[in-house]
Parts: sequence; structure tokens; C-alpha cells
Amino acid sequence: MTVHFIGAGPGAPDLLTLRGRDLIAASPVCLYAGSLIPQAVLGHCPPGARIVNTASMDLDAIVAEISAAHSAGHDVARLHSGDLSVWSAMGEQLRRLRALDIPFTVTPGVPAFAAAAAALETELTLPALAQSLVLTRTPGRASTMPPAESLANFAATGATLAIHLSIHNLDQLTRDLTPFYDADCPVAVVWRASWPDQRIVQATLGTIGAAVAGSMERTAIILVGRVLDAEGFGESSLYAKGYDRRFRPQNADSPYANSSE
Ligand SMILES: C[S@@+](CC[C@H](N)C(=O)[O-])C[C@H]1O[C@@H](n2cnc3c(N)ncnc32)[C@H](O)[C@@H]1O
Repeated sequence: MTVHFIGAGPGAPDLLTLRGRDLIAASPVCLYAGSLIPQAVLGHCPPGARIVNTASMDLDAIVAEISAAHSAGHDVARLHSGDLSVWSAMGEQLRRLRALDIPFTVTPGVPAFAAAAAALETELTLPALAQSLVLTRTPGRASTMPPAESLANFAATGATLAIHLSIHNLDQLTRDLTPFYDADCPVAVVWRASWPDQRIVQATLGTIGAAVAGSMERTAIILVGRVLDAEGFGESSLYAKGYDRRFRPQNADSPYANSSE
């Protein structure tokens, strides 16, 4: 028996890895975080699977479900939205399973920020404009922020920001960021990226509050940065004609000319 932690992606049932899909299809028990995972993803479960929405359960109850499946010898597909490496609460579950000697695997998923960028048809890093992407959030009722991880500290770098779990803080967040990025900096809010009812609002730090006007709740990601409306950015060296590199030596004198790797 094994518990398969699976990044279930941003919502669309075909934005799962093939491995994730196959593990769900092979597991007689599925525990899923129902607040973010739509029913369509559960269509990958086998007929007759025990499907449990863990949205209203505490950690003890979730571990009890897993322990019962372990005793019965049933594999469990444990689904969390997006990827498991950020804001999935996987860490505390793995710690319990290690203590109980219950085997598990971890399968990554498509994170929400990537689905949002795809919906916007944009790249979040562009030459000279931004070469870093900060995945962050603002404090919530259940989660304080480490003091150095303030929006102001991240904003001071000018990096592209992907702000999660914060649509309810939109007005405060724009006030905090404006001194660093200026009021005309583009902002995109993507609600339910990849869901059938996906919505996108694009504006600036100065206008996004009014543009969203409280019309979006919970499952939204806020992207901030100059990359979002950049047109005249430079091209990367990687594909530039004449750029000498391992996979494209330019002449016989290139240090890469005889490279076999
Ligand atoms: C608990 S976190 C989970 C993040 C997830 N593990 C990931 O890799 O994206 C939930 C937050 O992720 C963002 N999110 C998750 N799915 C989303 C989607 N389909 N569209 C937009 N934002 C999403 C929202 O900011 C939401 O408040």
C-alpha cells in the first residue's frame, strides 16, 4: 500500500501529468482538497473508488482515513491543487506518514502561476526586465509571514511577483507595491486559471482595485511586473545569430568546437 501525493494542477482535468493521472486511475481511494480541486479532475478515479473531500477535515481525520486505507491494503491518491511544493500542507502529512511508517510517493503538478501565465500568453521573465519570479502571499488568518518576507522587501528587487492567497487584500497590496513599481505598472489577476469559467482582469497598480471591484474571491492569482506589457524587450543571447555556445559552435576556433557533450 502506498499514498501517492499528486499535484492535481490548476483545475483543468487534462493539466495533470500522465503519471498523476495513471496513479489516480490505479488507486481505490482518493482524498482531495475540495476547496480548490474541481469535480472534473475526479473523473480520473476508477469506478467504485472511495472519494473523500478533505476540505472540512482536520489533519488527524485525514491521517485516520489514510491509516484505514493502509490497514486495508488500498493505495491512496492524495490530491492537492497545483504543485505540491508550495502551499499544499503536504509537509505535515509526510511527517505523520513517516512516523507511522506508511510509504508514499510525490508526483509534481502544474502550479497555478504557470497556468495563469499561460492564460495570459506571457513569459514572466524577460531579458533585462525581470529575471526572477517571486512566489509569495500576504498574511492570512491561519498564516503569519516571516518578518523579512514582506511585499516591500520583494518589491525592492523589481522582480515579477506572483501573489497567491491574497485577492481579498488587493487594495492594501497595491498600496504597498506602488512606491516600488509605480502606479502605471501592469497587473493581471487571473481567477480560476484553466477552469471553464476562468476570468482575467488586466490593469495597473493604480487601477486594478477598481477593475476587480470585489468581483473575484479566493481562487485568484495576482501577477505584478513590467514583463506583463513589455513589447520592446531585447532578445536573449541564447538564440542570437553568432552567439558561441556548446550546442552551436560558431567556428573551428570555438572552445566548443570539439565538445562531444
Ligand atoms: C493553497 S494555494 C495552492 C497553490 C498550489 N499548490 C499551486 O501550486 O499553485 C491556493 C492559492 O493558489 C492560487 N490558485 C490555485 N489554483 C488557482 C487557479 N486555478 N487559478 C488562479 N489561482 C489559483 C490562488 O492564489 C489560491 O488562493
